[in-house]
Formats: sequence, structure tokens, C-alpha cells
Amino acid sequence: MAVRRESKHGLWSSRTAFIFAATGSAVGLGNVWKFPYITGENGGGAFVLIYLVCILLIGIPVLIAEILIGRRARQNPVHAFASLAQESGASSAWSLLGVAGVLASFTILSYYVVIMSWAFAYIFYTGSGHFGGENAEMVGQDFAGFLSRWPEMIAWTTLMVVMTMIVVAGGVRRGLERVVSTMMPGIVVILGVLIVYSIFDGRFWAGFTFLFAPDFGEISRDSIIVALGHAFFTLSLASGAMVAYGAYVPQEMSIAKTGILIAIADTAVALMAGLAIFPLVFAYELTPSIGPGLIFATLPIAFGEMPFGAFFGTLFFIMLFLAAFTSAISLLEPSVVLIMERFGLTRTRAVGIVGSAIWLCSMPTVLSQNVLSGFHPIGVGVLKGKTIFDILDFLTSNVMLPLGGFFTALFTAWIMSRESTRDELAMGASPWFAAWHFVLRYIAPIAIVIIFLNLIGVLKF
Ligand code: PHE
Repeated sequence: MAVRRESKHGLWSSRTAFIFAATGSAVGLGNVWKFPYITGENGGGAFVLIYLVCILLIGIPVLIAEILIGRRARQNPVHAFASLAQESGASSAWSLLGVAGVLASFTILSYYVVIMSWAFAYIFYTGSGHFGGENAEMVGQDFAGFLSRWPEMIAWTTLMVVMTMIVVAGGVRRGLERVVSTMMPGIVVILGVLIVYSIFDGRFWAGFTFLFAPDFGEISRDSIIVALGHAFFTLSLASGAMVAYGAYVPQEMSIAKTGILIAIADTAVALMAGLAIFPLVFAYELTPSIGPGLIFATLPIAFGEMPFGAFFGTLFFIMLFLAAFTSAISLLEPSVVLIMERFGLTRTRAVGIVGSAIWLCSMPTVLSQNVLSGFHPIGVGVLKGKTIFDILDFLTSNVMLPLGGFFTALFTAWIMSRESTRDELAMGASPWFAAWHFVLRYIAPIAIVIIFLNLIGVLKF
């Protein structure tokens, strides 16, 4: 049996510290911003069902695998795959899987900071009482106006990049627990208030039905890959984040139980966000499929008309920002640790380099919303007619993450020995271990391949 390694950067102080950090990474814009808008674009219930199946059958097993890989190797994602491959006598080319993850988290962060800046800016717009008494049309126009003011958006985005850099430069763990322990209950309470408000208003059921009554006629061919991609995105998988955080997990913690807990919390927040938003969409006869602006064009209407709306609205956007911020930290961390260890740089210097690169790469996304909104660089296939931002989002969530997840499943179940994964999960001869191993060995990889073949049109269903 292989020797257990020590982490160079110390360990999480406790199981809860890791749960907070990992939940902070998982719960973010993906749950509150992205889940509702892609659900709207893909017709509701049937899409939600496919998404839930993806979480259960692929997301949770891969999440457990990633934490396991991180803890077993106790190194940055690139070195983690390399050394575990070596331990199993496999090719060092597996480290490319770590590289792909770091590349994915870097690319995601380049647009994540832009959307995060919208949430941040909306703290002030809502707080100033701006939306008081506005109707749906005015709220929509406000958002369109906001997007068109690109110098302002550059300023907000710059602020987001700098704030993330400051926290990551100070070492990830300091403060993370405190932020997440406020954000999680905060976001649940505010979404709860919005849901209760819509129940009293009688709008609730239209939203509920849209989310939970599956109509398979509503989904398109791309819907399945979008659901799968989002399962990876929302659980922070295939991006180095969970492997990097897993490296600091104390030995006695149960990886399986913790992974499941994180996935449940993450899914609950997404479903609550859907339940808060869709009743409004239908009450105001908005189109569910308007895209990435969905929450910014709907929630302010409720905040404009409900009692204490400015207060709840401000609090909502503060929580959304905090949720995004703890995810952004986990998106920056993998690249930073990699170049620190690879080039022997100090943390501050590594943060300086990666952060500046992120800032630069965020500019095309900012400009995709205004100056370059008519620029659709690719004229064929699924990417046809998409802006630079849409392309980045599609390629990361729907191509890079599922591919990374595919190889992570293969790595864990075919390359690493059954003894070492069983030892690390400490589940003994439990049937749960056998089930997990079987899913990663066969079900998850085969499902991902089928979904890809469907996307590129080889298989049609
Ligand atoms: N899971 C985060 C969210 O839902 C996004 C994320 C993806 C974070 C990949 C880290 C890695 O917003």
C-alpha cells in the first residue's frame, strides 16, 4: 500500500472548514444566475430532471473521486495526477488532465468575474431604492442600459479581479469559513422570503409547474449536454478546484459523506433560486428564455414592489456576490498554486501574474455585452451566432468540463488501484464502494460519450 502524503500547505482545521470551503466553491453564480437561465432556455421540467440525474449519477461520484485524488496526492492538481499515475505505473501524460482542469478554471474565471460584477453593481442599484415601483419593462431597460455602459462595467470588473487577488494572496483559508457561514444561511433565507412572497401572491404554482412538470417535447438536442455540463460546473468539477481543496482534507474525514452533503446543499440552492425566479417570470409574462440577463431582469421587479424590497434586494445581491466571491477564490487558486510550485514563485507574485492575465481575458466578455454584441466569430455548428462570452461559456461548461470528468472517472476507476481508492474512502467492503466504483468505471464514461455523440450529431435522440 502506498504511503500517505503530508500536504505542504497544511490542512483544513476541521471537517467543517473543508465543508465550508467546498460548499463556498460549489454554491455560486452557477446556482442562482446560471441554473435559472439555462432552465428557462431549455424549457423547464424535463431539463431539470436530466440535470438532477446528471448530478446523482455522474456529478456526485466524480466529486468524491476528485476530493479523493486531492487528498491521496496532497499536491496541486497537475502534480496530483502525475504522481498518482506514477504510483500506479501509468503514463505521466495523465498530468495533462490536471493542466486541462487549471485551464478550465482560468477560462471560467475570465467571464465569472464579469457576471460577479453585475451582482456587485446591483447591490448599489437596489440599495439606492432605484427599482421602487418600477414595472417589468423599466427593470429590463435598466439592465440593458447597465450593460451598454462598458466603461462602468470595466471598472466594476477590475474591482472584482483585484478583490479576488487580495484574498487569494493572503492564503485561501483565512476568512473563508466566516464568509461562507454567513452567505449560506443568508442566501437560503432570502430565497425563502422570495418564495414565500410568491406563494402569498398566488404566483408560485406557475413557476413550480414549469420547474417540476417534465415535458420532454420542450428540450432540444443540445439540452442534454447543457444539463451535464452544468452538473460539472455547479459542483466545481474538472477544474482543479475540488482536487486543490481536497489536498488539505484531514485524513479522518469521510470523503463520500462529505461529498454527498456538498452536492445536496448545492442542488437545494439551485432549486430554490428557480422557485424564486420563475413565478415572477410568468406573473409578468416575461420570456423564460431571455438568457444570461434573466435574474437581473426579473428579481428587481419583486424587490421594487414588495414591502421592504430595497432592503431584501440589497441583501440578496450582497449574498449573491459573496456566493460568487467564494467560488471565484476557488477558481483562481488552482492556477496560482500551479505556477507557484512550477516556477518557484511567491504566492503574491503568482497572484499578480495570474490576476493580471484574468483581467485582460475578462475584457472580451465585458465587450460581448455591448460594443462586440454583434460579433459572432464562428459561423458554423453549435457555436454559430454566439458572442465571445457565449462561446467561452459553452466551451468550458459543455466541452472542457465533461471531457475532464470523463478522464477523471477513467483515471480513478481504471488507473488507480481499487485498493488505494478503497483505502482512501475507508468504506471497507461496503456495497456503496462497489456501486461508486462501477459507476465511475462504466456508467459515467459511457454516458458522457453518448451525450457527446449526440451533440456532434453521430447519435440522434
Ligand atoms: N461551482 C461554481 C458555481 O456554481 C463555479 C465553479 C466552477 C467554481 C468550477 C469552481 C470551479 O458558481
